[in-house]
Amino acid sequence: MLTIQSNVSLKPYNTFGIDATARYLIEVENEEDIQTLLQLPNTHSLPMLILGGGSNLLLTQDFNGLVVKINLKGISLVKEDQEYVWVRAGAGESWHNFVMYCVEKGWAGIENLSLIPGTVGAAPMQNIGAYGVEIKDTFDRLEAVHVATGEKHIFNNADCHFGYRNSIFKNEAKGQYIISSVQFKLAKKPTFHVSYGDIQNTLEQMGVKELSIKSVSEAVIKIRRSKLPDPAEIGNAGSFFKNPEIPSSQYETLKTQYPMIPGYVINETTVKVPAGWLIEQNGWKGKRIGSIGVHTRQALVLVNYGGGKGAEIQQLARKIQESVEEQFGIRLYTEVNFV
Ligand code: EPU
Repeated sequence: MLTIQSNVSLKPYNTFGIDATARYLIEVENEEDIQTLLQLPNTHSLPMLILGGGSNLLLTQDFNGLVVKINLKGISLVKEDQEYVWVRAGAGESWHNFVMYCVEKGWAGIENLSLIPGTVGAAPMQNIGAYGVEIKDTFDRLEAVHVATGEKHIFNNADCHFGYRNSIFKNEAKGQYIISSVQFKLAKKPTFHVSYGDIQNTLEQMGVKELSIKSVSEAVIKIRRSKLPDPAEIGNAGSFFKNPEIPSSQYETLKTQYPMIPGYVINETTVKVPAGWLIEQNGWKGKRIGSIGVHTRQALVLVNYGGGKGAEIQQLARKIQESVEEQFGIRLYTEVNFV
């Protein structure tokens, strides 16, 4: 039985902890619920917001429509061969719990993605990534329901048009599908990705002599806990901006002016610059304006200390964009979705 709630505070449903109100909220537990929902008389006349963990979302105002909270659960081993397992998880499973499940089973490929907030179903939307790994590397397929027709569609890896923090679900297919489950192809024999940032150092500090899926996961968790605020303590949505990719020529020019500017070569013509560095140079790191601000240990993360409004955070983001553009001539684009 579907229950429709009216005038619901979305505060518990977004990791920024913004207290905006939804006109209606429905929680779906299984595929049948999704079909029932799509047959309700008013479903297609209202704006719809499909919500996973609400961890990449900024609510800038009340939502005068229908919020659909995805609670589909379940993890199952679909098939295996000598080298791989194909494992499927319901869209409403917590991403981190799913990673922990796979780490415990000894299935490799997503251990670097430990402790990322959000749900399994939201992970492909923006091709979540961290410490040199993105979900597109192990993503096999997903099942989704087409909102307009109720038909079930399968999207394989190529269909999703994955890019850096990007997919078809943020572009052409935006708002058109409800993802119900995601299937990954994980390896029985791990290939470790430990060259990014502090992973190697952290493993050494932890006294790890021989790498394992579990130790890499633990190192990632340690680094994330030390740098990124826990949404349960301080409202935030992880990186607020994407790391900008700029022409190599512009990077070389900036380097003459700012010799310390970090950059990762993407290809012959493009360099990716950490937005956190640019924002920190502008003096924003740790800055607090009333109830909101820029995190003290990672300038790429905007925070709500409690009682902050989405519109205030949006305004702060604009100011940061303007000042970075003025100083470096680089436009920052948001990673977080505005509603
Ligand atoms: N830096 C600063 N000051 C800061 C933050 C970063 O100078 O306040 C510079 C440093 O040079 C540092 C470099 O930026 O070496 C990279 O920083 P970090 O390793 O923290 O990663 P990031 O590029 O800021 C990205 C992802 C994170 C992901 C980490 C680790 C994006 C937008 N963000 O951040 O993803 O956890 O790499 O792989 O690509 C998220 O998407 O929500 C997220 C947290």
